[in-house]
Amino acid sequence: MDRTQVILPAGAVRRQEAYTGRLAALYRRKDRPPLAMVDTYGCQQNVADSQRIMGMLRDMGCGFTQDPYAADIIVINTCAIRENAEKKVFGVVGQLVHVKERNPEVVICLCGCMAQQETVADRIRKSYRHVDLVFGPQALWRFPELLYGVCTEGKRVFSIADEHGSIAEGLPVVRESGVKAWVSIMYGCNNFCSYCIVPYVRGRERSREAADILNEVRGLVEEGYKEITLLGQNVNSYGKDLDVPMDFADLLREIDRIPGNYLIRFMTSHPKDAGEKLFAAMAECPHVARQLHLPVQSGSSRVLKAMNRGYTREQYLEKVDMARRAMPDIVLTSDIIIGFPGETEAEAMETVSLIEQVRYDALFTFIYSPRPGTPAAKLPDPASRAEKQIWFDKLLDVQNRISAELHRGYVGKTVRVLVDGESGDEAWPLSSRTAGGRLVHLRGDAGLIGQYAEAKIVDSNTWALFGEIFSV
Ligand code: 5AD
Ligand code: SF4
Repeated sequence: MDRTQVILPAGAVRRQEAYTGRLAALYRRKDRPPLAMVDTYGCQQNVADSQRIMGMLRDMGCGFTQDPYAADIIVINTCAIRENAEKKVFGVVGQLVHVKERNPEVVICLCGCMAQQETVADRIRKSYRHVDLVFGPQALWRFPELLYGVCTEGKRVFSIADEHGSIAEGLPVVRESGVKAWVSIMYGCNNFCSYCIVPYVRGRERSREAADILNEVRGLVEEGYKEITLLGQNVNSYGKDLDVPMDFADLLREIDRIPGNYLIRFMTSHPKDAGEKLFAAMAECPHVARQLHLPVQSGSSRVLKAMNRGYTREQYLEKVDMARRAMPDIVLTSDIIIGFPGETEAEAMETVSLIEQVRYDALFTFIYSPRPGTPAAKLPDPASRAEKQIWFDKLLDVQNRISAELHRGYVGKTVRVLVDGESGDEAWPLSSRTAGGRLVHLRGDAGLIGQYAEAKIVDSNTWALFGEIFSV
């Protein structure tokens, strides 16, 4: 892809700022500042996108609310990865009809991965007439212009053209905490795993220039952020489209040179592209967390081939060994899909045996959900939902046992944690994470949020560790 077509000229982004200014002027004429509600579903990339949308809304003069009845603008940022996620959003959007009845002036916007699908947009067009604006992830940077169109022309606006995707630098942002920040390093996906909708809704892979990423991370560190997570559908493809030779391992090393007291995490890594060079960079960079989210999806080489994953069970296990040779203490997590079309019980049990072999610290597990338009959705799928549920429950039992065993191994040890918020648990009111990303509930007061602490682990369960702070 031609970089000059991918990176939006600064003028294009500035034109959006002009629309933001016009909207701010419109809102200033009202009797009070507008309130916006942003409701986010799905992955961290969506969270990061919502923070940009909130940045644009803030620059229009908006305050924020969680109450749809109090809002002047409602933005629902959606996820299309599984059918359940879509159903939930249709439920939420359906309910908003009552909000529109009570307040016909409210502007209701639907964005994100669901919105990029033609079938969803059609359904919204016909059956959810109270939705005013629909735009996909690829049009996010044009939100001010689209919203201005709705506000001044009184028409519904749909912007879901299938573009290859672009990169907009310099969009405003509202970050949720002063401790953790998300930084997108690339957008889109070229892998076309046969079950996955992402490449169809988020466009082709495109990497941000390293200088832009470094500037953003440096700024965050200077502002005092302690944990920065680099985001991409497949961070290991970073740099393939850049004019200068630069890959993800090189980028990690560059970022690591930024002085300060902070930790770098990243997600997600595709096993076919992760290797010695990445693991060496992780091992040698003190700011990089020794944590690797390496989705395997299945433990059966036959199913992996049908999923178009580009590796076999054996090749995956070799990558895990390679990572552990470089970093014996690495915390490993993964994504698993059970019940891919045509998967047999024996194949599902190969996945169970793989997790026994790897002993992940934690897993994100899903039952396959057909996504219209993907190749897998056309495959015969003879196993029943009930059978798949049995395989899924078996997998969870095994993983829960492994997580509990690994967590028990921490008891009595002292770990360095970053206190990142309140846990909601009265006995252990603070929530924190180890460098490997394990959740630790702590006793202590809220003044510690945003600080590193040494904690002695005194108890554990399947989901978390419990610790006493003994020095800050
Ligand atoms: N059904 C179930 N799970 C899916 N994922 C992606 N597509 C599907 C689907 N159609 C899972 C994969 C991916 C994670 C983000 O979501 O495990 O890694
Ligand atoms: Fe989907 Fe595969 Fe791309 Fe991940 S790598 S977003 S699972 S197509």
